[in-house]
Amino acid sequence: MTAHSQTAASTAASPFIRACRREPVPYTPVWFMRQAGRSLPEYLKAREGVPMLESCTRPDLITEITMQPVRRHKVDAAIYFSDIMVPLKAIGLDLDIKPGVGPVVAEPIRGRADLDRLRDLEPDDVPYVTEAVGMLTGELDATPLIGFAGAPFTLASYLIEGGPSRTYEHTKAMMYGEPELWSALLDRLAEITAAFLKVQIEAGASAVQLFDSWAGALAPVDYERYVMPASAKVFDAVASYGVPRIHFGVGTGELLRLMGEAGADVVGVDWRVPLDEAARRVGPGKALQGNLDPTVLFAPTAAVEAKAREVLESAAAVTAAGGGHVFNLGHGVMPSTDPDKLTRLVEFVHRATER
Ligand code: CP3
Repeated sequence: MTAHSQTAASTAASPFIRACRREPVPYTPVWFMRQAGRSLPEYLKAREGVPMLESCTRPDLITEITMQPVRRHKVDAAIYFSDIMVPLKAIGLDLDIKPGVGPVVAEPIRGRADLDRLRDLEPDDVPYVTEAVGMLTGELDATPLIGFAGAPFTLASYLIEGGPSRTYEHTKAMMYGEPELWSALLDRLAEITAAFLKVQIEAGASAVQLFDSWAGALAPVDYERYVMPASAKVFDAVASYGVPRIHFGVGTGELLRLMGEAGADVVGVDWRVPLDEAARRVGPGKALQGNLDPTVLFAPTAAVEAKAREVLESAAAVTAAGGGHVFNLGHGVMPSTDPDKLTRLVEFVHRATER
């Protein structure tokens, strides 16, 4: 038996995996995007003096930081501590993650010749991933570990812009102006992303999430034409493992159907579309993940619980119709969030949904 199937077997009965598969659950499972990170004092302590990308190459740190929110909040899944830029760094691109800014790429990708810098990713490029996932699945026992990667569009946006962007002007200029170069770039990124997810699954990850955080910048017709084929290639490449595949983006209300069709088992929803409406847009046969507005956590607990209850009520219509629901925020935990609020939210969702 391979390592991944052993782990998949030991987490199959977990509420998180069962909800992803639209099977009955004892209570609604909860995890938070960016649950590991700056909202936790123990994270800040562990990261002291260690640059972000370096921390992602140290199995001891990866394991400790991944476990922190599991220990503290009792969430129903761990997410592997890394960053969407890690596989690109691993194949030799000159990039960094600047605190308070985000990914910064020294030489942006702008022309055909730049594609030569995007070589294939081999498992030997990321030995620390295999090692850390192995350590984690040992410690996590029956709690599932979610592996993840950035989707081709979101990665391309950083590579082409050279850093974070609000308008994606260079990205869209290439997409509309040089469609052949664009599709060659996205196809390259799909192969790298698929290889990176495979390393995580083969090492023991029980589910994977593809972050297309910035896909909401696109109209559906352009998403379908220019982006969906590359994301579908990633999902196809990992389909045979049988682990749940989650697809997430922000501001993607108009894209939910296409994001499901790209090959996801679970579609992530931000806070702009209620889950019952999201289910209508996605269609049958897929679970949903979301979708409490992360800024709600800055309000008093009573208000947090009232808003969480709204999410659960909207989700109840989905699960009653045979869907599955994984509770999450509509985007990542914000760094200044009070971590106690997150712990209480996990307790609240579990208590409110106990069946
Ligand atoms: O707990 C988890 O969710 C796992 C950790 C995780 C990180 N990055 C760690 C991180 C995950 C899933 C990511 C994915 C990621 N990285 C995405 C997709 C998710 C999303 O938020 O939409 C994106 C777009 C990135 C790119 C990126 N990396 C940004 C925008 C930033 C923030 C920059 C800043 O300082 O505000 C990063 C850095 C980063 N990635 C941090 C962490 C914990 C902060 C680094 C630090 O502690 O200084």
